[in-house]
Amino acid sequence: MASDSSPPGPADVPRVTTQTVQDMKEAGVPIAALTAYDYTSARLYDRAGIDVLLVGDSASNVMAGNETTLPMTLDHMIYHAQCVVRGIDRSLVVVDLPFGTYQGNEKEGLHSAIRMMKEAGAHAVKLEGGAPVVATIQRIVESGVPVMGHLGLTPQSIYEFGTYQVRARDEAEAEQLREDAKRLEDAGCFAIVLEKIPADLAKEVTASLSIPTIGIGAGAATDGQVLVSHDALGLSTDFNPRFVRRYAELEETITDAIGDYVDDVRSRAFPDDSESY
Ligand code: KIV
Repeated sequence: MASDSSPPGPADVPRVTTQTVQDMKEAGVPIAALTAYDYTSARLYDRAGIDVLLVGDSASNVMAGNETTLPMTLDHMIYHAQCVVRGIDRSLVVVDLPFGTYQGNEKEGLHSAIRMMKEAGAHAVKLEGGAPVVATIQRIVESGVPVMGHLGLTPQSIYEFGTYQVRARDEAEAEQLREDAKRLEDAGCFAIVLEKIPADLAKEVTASLSIPTIGIGAGAATDGQVLVSHDALGLSTDFNPRFVRRYAELEETITDAIGDYVDDVRSRAFPDDSESY
């Protein structure tokens, strides 16, 4: 935990907990979050200092090749979460409850959250939405499972929205979001993801809450940032929204590397004597 003179950060926190991210908000230290879906990647991201690893249901898009997140099942998410949990020493692992596993009623949500904790070893779960899921969030939190909320563009509701455009641009939706953020805080969420909303609104909501906000396409004033790892690493370059910053160009790197391997196999340059028994 942080001393008075050093705010919490990668070097001085052996294990990130929900309390750590709260401390980081209070100390003004931005929280670095990233999605992960498998053991090898989670291990790398954890060692690189990521505070929160989100096993997002974006696995549906980037791992399974689906158009939306809706097809993911609880069993799919448990599998991805198990792989990620095995790869980490330090990060807080938050796992999405997928579409259709918590919207029905509080008992369904509680059952899904408990399976995620028991079978995957998750540290917390994330649910999308505001008022309609507040009672479920409250029930899950009361059972001892930390919950992260998610407001703004909530991809599980894509067929209600119709597009992936910026949310809460009009005052009525902005006001709804302000109220939902308060409701989620009151229900016991330890943090809230704000996705694709105007930066000024995200700033206002962040200042109004005592719990941290984690932004994606929500400007620089949130308490932390999250990106889909495939986007940050340039693995899926056909998806190019303005909120993504690419920190590597792995699509090109991997395509070139595998092309070289194919050439070496074809020309019998691989394997050579030193690679043979
Ligand atoms: O599923 C996901 O990856 C997410 C992030 C985009 C916040 O929910």
